[in-house]
Amino acid sequence: MSKITSQLLNTIVSDIKEEAKALEGKTILISGGSGFIGSYINAVLYLLNKKVFKNKCKVISIDNYITGSKKNFLLDIKDKNFQFQDGDIRLPVITTDKVDYIIHAAGLASPFYYKKYPLETIESAILGAKNLLELARITKPVSFLFFSSSEIYGDPDPKFVPTPETYAGHVSSVGPRACYDESKRLAETLCITYHQIYNIPVKIVRPFNIYGPGMKHIDYRVIPTFIYNGLKGKNLPVHDKGVQTRTFCYITDAIVAILKVLISGKTGEVYNIGNDKPEIGMFELAQTIVDMLNNGSKPRRKNYPLNYPAGEPQRRCPDLTKIIKQLNYEPKVDLKTGLKQTIKWFKQNYHL
Ligand SMILES: NC(=O)c1ccc[n+]([C@@H]2O[C@H](COP(=O)([O-])OP(=O)(O)OC[C@H]3O[C@@H](n4cnc5c(N)ncnc54)[C@H](O)[C@@H]3O)[C@@H](O)[C@H]2O)c1
Repeated sequence: MSKITSQLLNTIVSDIKEEAKALEGKTILISGGSGFIGSYINAVLYLLNKKVFKNKCKVISIDNYITGSKKNFLLDIKDKNFQFQDGDIRLPVITTDKVDYIIHAAGLASPFYYKKYPLETIESAILGAKNLLELARITKPVSFLFFSSSEIYGDPDPKFVPTPETYAGHVSSVGPRACYDESKRLAETLCITYHQIYNIPVKIVRPFNIYGPGMKHIDYRVIPTFIYNGLKGKNLPVHDKGVQTRTFCYITDAIVAILKVLISGKTGEVYNIGNDKPEIGMFELAQTIVDMLNNGSKPRRKNYPLNYPAGEPQRRCPDLTKIIKQLNYEPKVDLKTGLKQTIKWFKQNYHL
């Protein structure tokens, strides 16, 4: 494990260790456990077992590796308490274990990949949720967490930026992003319906642009794309005019927030996950990164490439009032600190 990721995991464990005691001795099933966020959740559970829990938790991690990697980039987990299954969540999940916590994190999160795999995107969200909710009817977990997305808000009315959980969204059902946005929306509906009919203790998170060490250089989301190109001495490709805005949440803050919702979130409720500042334009983000790299690379505006879904939201910024008040969450890492660590990890990991 690199020094950077070891520090990140220790930070998360130290922030969450009291609340995480609820997971002691429990069995946690996670889909998408070999992706960016899933790998952090698995590595944090592994460290909690090692450092905090007397009674170890067990993890069943399912991934079909459509974008995830067989090798966990954080640590080499070879442990009898961790079962890594090469499985597709679009198919029913069968297990004889008593599962206490279910996390549905599988999905095609990057616009490049959901444009490439639209049916897989729809099915992983909806059939994946359905299969895990059916499993929950049998195993009766204490908590069920679904990973939705800030994309369910579509291109929000500027009057609703920062966007609260109550904003219903401005989304096209037939647009270029519909396979992702609409499948996440329907999967949320499925979760809430199973909660209403079968009393499944569902909680939903809507992450807003999480980033950090561990992202793949071929992930095609904006931060890894900018950093990878910049480190290679290439220009940073800014789509269109670059005035579209995002806020970015560092992975340590995001994992703490996600575990808080899993453990202490209210049943049947939805929580925005993210950082609400700064709301930054994409040209300005590219400029910030080239200033940090200081190697002659530059931001360059370009038309949207054909392999990228058009119709991207012009603004995206979460209203975090609910998670701050209910779960005592506060993002701690500012954008420059997070970018600096991510650049360092990319340099070391991709030998740039
Ligand atoms: N990272 C973010 O900023 C962000 C923002 C909004 C929502 N989300 C959601 O959070 C979840 C995790 O995101 P991430 O950034 O780790 O993405 P990721 O692409 O790194 O990881 C997703 C994982 O799901 C796996 N997967 C996809 N389809 C599957 C299937 N049918 N069966 C089993 N495994 C499957 C992939 O192989 C991958 O390992 C996703 O559901 C994503 O939509 C993430």
